[in-house]
Amino acid sequence: MLEDSGTILSSVVASQLAAHARYGGVVPEIASREHGKAIVPVVRAAMEETGLVFADLDAVAVTVGPGLIGSLLVGATYAKSLSYALELPLIAVNHVEGHIHAVIWEARQQGTPVQFPALALVVSGGHTHLFSVSETFDYRLLGKTRDDAAGEAFDKVGKLLGFGYPGGPAIDGLATYGNPKAVPFTLAKLRSGNGLDFSFSGLKTGVLRWFEAQEGMEEEVAARRELLGEHPRPTTEQWLTVTPKRTLDAIASFQHTVVTELLARVRPGVEAMGAQSLIVSGGVACNQGLRLAARARGFGIPVHFPSAALSTDNAVMIAAAAFPKFERQTFAGLDAAVYAQLPF
Ligand code: KG4
Ligand code: ZN
Repeated sequence: MLEDSGTILSSVVASQLAAHARYGGVVPEIASREHGKAIVPVVRAAMEETGLVFADLDAVAVTVGPGLIGSLLVGATYAKSLSYALELPLIAVNHVEGHIHAVIWEARQQGTPVQFPALALVVSGGHTHLFSVSETFDYRLLGKTRDDAAGEAFDKVGKLLGFGYPGGPAIDGLATYGNPKAVPFTLAKLRSGNGLDFSFSGLKTGVLRWFEAQEGMEEEVAARRELLGEHPRPTTEQWLTVTPKRTLDAIASFQHTVVTELLARVRPGVEAMGAQSLIVSGGVACNQGLRLAARARGFGIPVHFPSAALSTDNAVMIAAAAFPKFERQTFAGLDAAVYAQLPF
């Protein structure tokens, strides 16, 4: 819940990672059921944290896509019901726009507002997109992944190596223990396009080839799966007990290659649009290797990352993106649809 001054009144996140972990990825049907179970208690908890009542609210914002339809439907139906019962305007927010606004909002709170036009790199489990963002929040898509999203690459490699789902945090924690130059993973050269698109499928295949060439990988992976069975979210120290040097080297090299691929598009993107600042957002923005490399490169403009809590999916980002729409009175009707794909 956000106040117009910008203060976070409450932020409650229900994680359903445990429900998906043993499947090595998000199972859509489980996701919608978990949403259905969580939504009422989560909203109740958010209200209780603030000490406010529903009558104190001015609007209800909800994401309508892109994402898994079943989960989106749960959120949108609940938000519409609230809006109807409380006679409050409904604001439909694009999930990706939410990731961008999490950073814009937080930077303003910290007294270092984002300068526009900004280049936004949105890197999550479903997206690897470069946008130009104007002061009035007009967006132009400059580049995107041709195949997997960066987070998806982390998750697939994590699953292959026995780190469960999501793979990003485990790989990130272990990458500093390996040599990023040890395994020369390469990226496919994209022949057509404007040079601002990304591709991670070649890298994913490279990791698979490396994996297949190793001796005794089954036992290694089995040991990690066993750890995962005992501790749903092992710490880096626990992972280190079942991850030998060769795998740490492969992990470090994989992460280094992803970061290189992501940042290789930033400088041309900055130049193409005359960006005054860089925004990096989405779950992969948590990645320490990406943060360090982005800061080291500098790009000659301020670089804004969200705090860890606002990097992965959360409600504050949806409320933050809703505020400009609230000011412009851009409201959605009760017939608002949800979308698996939703360009903006
Ligand atoms: O934004 P998000 O919470 O959900 C989507 O909209 O997809 O992003 C989740 C993604 C997952 O793929 C996860 O592996 C990745 O973000 N992720 C990370 C890290 N933390 C989360 N990837 C790399 N390094 C991390 N530290
Ligand atoms: Zn997201």
